[in-house]
Amino acid sequence: MIAVRTLGPVDVRVRGTAAPPELLWRKNLALLVYLARSPKRARTREHLIGMLWGDKSDDKARRSLNEALRELRRSTGDGSLESDNAQVRVTPDAVQLDIDRLEALAAAGDYAGAADLVHGEFLEGFSVPGASEFETWLAAEREHWRRRSVEVLVRRAEQLLANGNLTAANDMVRRARGLDWRPETAVRVGLRGLALAGDRAGALALFEEFTARLRRELGAEPDAETRALAERVRQERAWRLPGQVRQAAARGSGPQRGPLVGRAAELARLTDVWETCRTRTRGAVVVIEGDAGTGKTRLAEELAARARLDGAMVVGVRAVEADRADAWSGVFGIARGGLLEAPGVAGARPGALDQLRGRTPADAPGRALSEVLQAVAEEQPLLVFVDDAQWLDRESLLALGAAARDLAGAPALCVITAAPQPSRPELDELRARLGRQLSGTTVKVGSL
Ligand SMILES: Nc1ncnc2c1ncn2[C@@H]1O[C@H](COP(=O)(O)OP(=O)(O)O)[C@@H](O)[C@H]1O
Ligand SMILES: [Mg+2]
Repeated sequence: MIAVRTLGPVDVRVRGTAAPPELLWRKNLALLVYLARSPKRARTREHLIGMLWGDKSDDKARRSLNEALRELRRSTGDGSLESDNAQVRVTPDAVQLDIDRLEALAAAGDYAGAADLVHGEFLEGFSVPGASEFETWLAAEREHWRRRSVEVLVRRAEQLLANGNLTAANDMVRRARGLDWRPETAVRVGLRGLALAGDRAGALALFEEFTARLRRELGAEPDAETRALAERVRQERAWRLPGQVRQAAARGSGPQRGPLVGRAAELARLTDVWETCRTRTRGAVVVIEGDAGTGKTRLAEELAARARLDGAMVVGVRAVEADRADAWSGVFGIARGGLLEAPGVAGARPGALDQLRGRTPADAPGRALSEVLQAVAEEQPLLVFVDDAQWLDRESLLALGAAARDLAGAPALCVITAAPQPSRPELDELRARLGRQLSGTTVKVGSL
């Protein structure tokens, strides 16, 4: 069996050991790879001659093809190469290509494995001078595998971002952009990775550099999606977590904070819920549960930062012990915590807004909250961040549960952090509905 690495400088192994030099002769190698890439791994002799020996007389060309087939047969062993007067075919297990494996891994969602197979251009540095048909084919294959490799590397980078592994994600982006600087998917995941790592200047520099090159070399402008993302990164300096949530988060936030440690699985679950919520406009609730100091707020912030880059509005409140006895304090906290200033509030009923502003006696603040959240979620995706919900007043906890039901068809995610003590039946009840009447999940965080 022959194994060929095609992505990068070509490497050929025969039954695990280095290939004999004859097999590496240009036309032999070209024939081998070309056959393995052909439909059903078969071609007519006529076609192969046109591909590789088109510059020779008919007689000479036929002899050369036979020579080459003899060499392949010597290396692959009998039975792996079938030929008759008209056709040549390699059997499926005679030749193994890395790119077939890459497609199998990608189809199975194993982008880590697939990305490991990308070592460079298809048959990097290889050419068959004089065989113009083969060269044309090679150029098309290169273009195809360059695009495919970039796709795989970008998918892997996205997975790594969802796991919080920013360094590895940014490395992946660098590899992708080394293959091809043009795909904007790679630019966008690069922008996200740098911004999430706190390197806002680096992210904007990447965007500027990309834009300049695009103009210079292709006379084009970046996509609207890329421009919108860059704009969000630019705005992010002005943006702070609202009100009380900010104070809670300030201890461990900002570009100077260290990288997130050891929460890959938890963050991946959270981003997964967010992606579904945002892309399928399905409201959801996630509860992050753990003792004080285990990193609940930090984990929620990581998710909020991702949501911001996706263009979401983030509003929030942080409860403290005294709030528990203060009816509706949580609802009013969310109103003050960014909701009343959010784009889209004007779409809500004035009566509901007046209630949340405290201008009229609050006869039904819970319903008002639901209405205003819905209006804001019509304008853009929405993340409602409720920190330390174990201290939330009972009325607000119930109102959140009701709002979650009302927002089931909106791109709105409610992120609740809570310590297990004191235990709150309203919260237990909400959690019990997750995955049943309500989309969402509970993520438990233990000490690191
Ligand atoms: N996974 C983590 N990696 C790095 N630092 C963390 C992590 N989780 C928490 N921290 C830091 O530990 C401290 C406590 O985390 P915090 O999120 O406030 O805990 P909690 O909200 O559960 O009380 C903060 O300074 C935070 O930045
Ligand atoms: Mg906290």
